[in-house]
This record gives sequence, C-alpha cells and structure tokens, in this order.
Amino acid sequence: MGQAHARSMLRIPSLFAKRSFDPVLVVCADTEADRRERAVSDFGFERAVADWHDAINSDDVDVVWVTAPNMLHVPMIEAACAAGKAVFSEKPIGGKPEQTVAAFEAATRAGVRSGVGYNYLWSPLVLHARHLVESGALGEITHYRGRFLSMYGSDELGLLTWRFILDQAGYGVTSDILSHSVSLAQFLVGDITEVVGMRNTTIPQRPLPTGAASHYGRGRPEDPKGDVENEDFASMLCRFANGATGTFEVSRTMVGPESQNAFEIYGTKGSLAWNLEKINELQYYKLTDDPSSGYTTIYGGERFPFHGAFAPGQANSIGLEDLVAIEDFNFMEALATDAPFKPSFREAVDVVNVQQALIESWDSRTWEDVVDLAGGSNGK
Ligand SMILES: NC(=O)c1ccc[n+]([C@@H]2O[C@H](COP(=O)([O-])OP(=O)(O)OC[C@H]3O[C@@H](n4cnc5c(N)ncnc54)[C@H](O)[C@@H]3O)[C@@H](O)[C@H]2O)c1
Repeated sequence: MGQAHARSMLRIPSLFAKRSFDPVLVVCADTEADRRERAVSDFGFERAVADWHDAINSDDVDVVWVTAPNMLHVPMIEAACAAGKAVFSEKPIGGKPEQTVAAFEAATRAGVRSGVGYNYLWSPLVLHARHLVESGALGEITHYRGRFLSMYGSDELGLLTWRFILDQAGYGVTSDILSHSVSLAQFLVGDITEVVGMRNTTIPQRPLPTGAASHYGRGRPEDPKGDVENEDFASMLCRFANGATGTFEVSRTMVGPESQNAFEIYGTKGSLAWNLEKINELQYYKLTDDPSSGYTTIYGGERFPFHGAFAPGQANSIGLEDLVAIEDFNFMEALATDAPFKPSFREAVDVVNVQQALIESWDSRTWEDVVDLAGGSNGK
C-alpha cells in the first residue's frame, strides 16, 4: 500500500488539474534496504530511512501516510500526532478495536487532521449508489448484504506472514476486510446498532516465512509450520438504526471468489448490487409495472464523480489504484483548503464499534449492542 499511495502522489498533478496543493515525496521509511532503494530510484522520494521515527520527525514533512503492518499503526500515528502532523492511516488502524480508539484519541488530543484508507468508498459507482439511496430512488431500505470474500489466504502453503499473527495483525478478517465491508454499509445505509456472528479458522497452520515475505509468498510442504492465530472467516447478522436488517460474510481462505468485495442494497422501490470484481458495473433494479423490468447495468463513466480524471466517455474502465488516487487527492485537498474530510479516524472508530460487538457475540453467543468505544467523542 505504501507503493500504491506513492504512485498516487506521482499521478495526482496530471490527474487533477484543479487542486490547491502539490504533493512532494519527501521521505520513505522501510526496514528493507531494497525497498528504500526503490523508493528513491523508482518512486522519486527525496530520501529513504530505516527508522520510521526519523521520517515522521523530519521538519520538511507535513503529512504522514501510515502503510506499515497493523501493529505499527498506533505508534506511528502517536508519533505523528506528537509532531503535530496530519496523518492518513491505512485501515484497520491497529489490529484491535481499542487500538483504533487510541489512535482517534491521540489525533483528537493533538488537534491533527486524520484520514483512513477505506478506498472503496471512493469508487465512482459506490458514490453514485449512495446518491441513489439518499435521493430515495430505492424507497425505504429494508436489507443490506455485505461480503468480502478474498482468496489471498486460500493457498495452505501461503506463508505465515504478519496478517496471521495476533500481536502483528490483531484480529484476522474482521480487522483486515470486514472493516471495508462495514465502512461501505455505514456509508451507504447508516449506523449499525446490534450484531451477532460467528468465526472460523479453516487453515490452522502455515509455513513459516524466511526473510521479507509479502502476504503473497509461498512455502513448501516440507517447511516448518506455525499456528494461524486469528480468524479466516467471519459472518454477522445486524440491524441498522433505520430499521433495515443486514448480513455480512468475510473470508480470506474460500476457494473461488477472488476479490469479491460486494454489497446488495434492497429497498421498497428498487435495489442495487456492486462487486469490486466488476468495479465498473452497478446493477440497478427499479420497481415498475413493466413486465419486462429487471436489473440494468450502469457502466462507469465520466458522468460519475472523479471517473473522468482517469478515463473519458462512458464504459471506459478505471481500476483499484485509481480509488487510492481519488482518496489521496481528496484528503490532501481537504488539508490544503481546511475543509472537512471523511472517512477520518472518527469513522474508523464507528467501524470498530461494530467489530467489538461482533467479537463479544463470539463468546456470548447472543446479540450484542454496538456501543461507541470513544464515549461519543466527535473530535476530528
Ligand atoms: N486499503 C486497502 O485496500 C489495503 C490493501 C492492502 C493492505 N492494506 C493495509 O496496508 C497496511 C500494509 O499492508 P501491505 O499489504 O502493504 O503490507 P506489506 O507487508 O506488503 O508491506 C508492509 C511494508 O512495511 C514495511 N515495514 C515493516 N516493518 C516496518 C518498520 N518497523 N518500519 C518501517 N517499515 C516497515 C515492510 O518492509 C513492507 O515494505 C496494512 O495495515 C493493511 O491492512 C490496505
């Protein structure tokens, strides 16, 4: 994700002519020497350092992007806050709900601006879906289905990298990808008030990594193995504040769905369906008396927000990293113009409030109320 954000910075001037800032890639921190070298030679950072404290505390840095493994998020954010710098963190912000709350409180106390990388909220067709919901085109919302079924962990020889270790990742799929699904649901339908759910770990052991392994690395059957310490699968039933019901499923080990970050929204007058695997298509059903009515496909195009920065006309596709460029552009534009920005750390707390209730339901085996872990504090 560090590379994705760095590429965004490089592209922003050519993508967004109307802007109030110019990004400068000042310093990249990484413990891996080859990544530091590439940061300078291929990405154009002015310099690269091994110790992240040196990057955050540099006088010539205004904004910090946190793209390290989960357990480094909070210390990095706290250091950025102490240095009075705006901070954008990749999700999930720490690995456990209380860590996300700690990051939010640090930013609130320091009065620094924050942003969180729920990049799918910036998909032009997701923004259009929100517009359709808000305009009443779907009538009253009755039900929401969210899912993120990814295959990134489906290979049992996939290495035991930081994502599978409790004190490096925190929780498993509920931190890693349910955070995307819940942030989408809250963005599109509103607050979730109560939940009940279950979890499972389907690949309990994985080959131990050697050296700097990305989460796509692969071991051999004869390699020594270690335990997976967090969940591969989670599901959840929920109720929204507006009375709608919801169901969620997330998995990193199912075989088949490769990156199915998807939602369906059902209302009394229509419904919508979107799936990251078909990022440029939104399915829309409009209730009419016409016997031939059915789902229609709305293709992405320049008539939807931000799409035209990447591809002109209609049905010319955009891609995943374009969403990262849109979120980075909007965050920096908000900083440069002193405008409000969402999703901030406050919205990340909204997400982990739901995660916390789900985690409690795993043990209690009953419905749990969603409680604001930040005690109703609204600071940005
Ligand atoms: N928004 C999204 O869609 C999305 C997608 C993937 C990952 N993420 C998030 O981004 C974060 C990073 O994930 P990733 O897939 O890029 O991980 P990764 O393991 O591929 O990369 C992590 C990088 O951090 C570096 N690093 C590790 N320890 C460090 C330290 N002490 N100091 C400096 N650098 C250090 C590693 O060398 C590596 O270059 C995670 O929090 C993850 O949840 C978000």
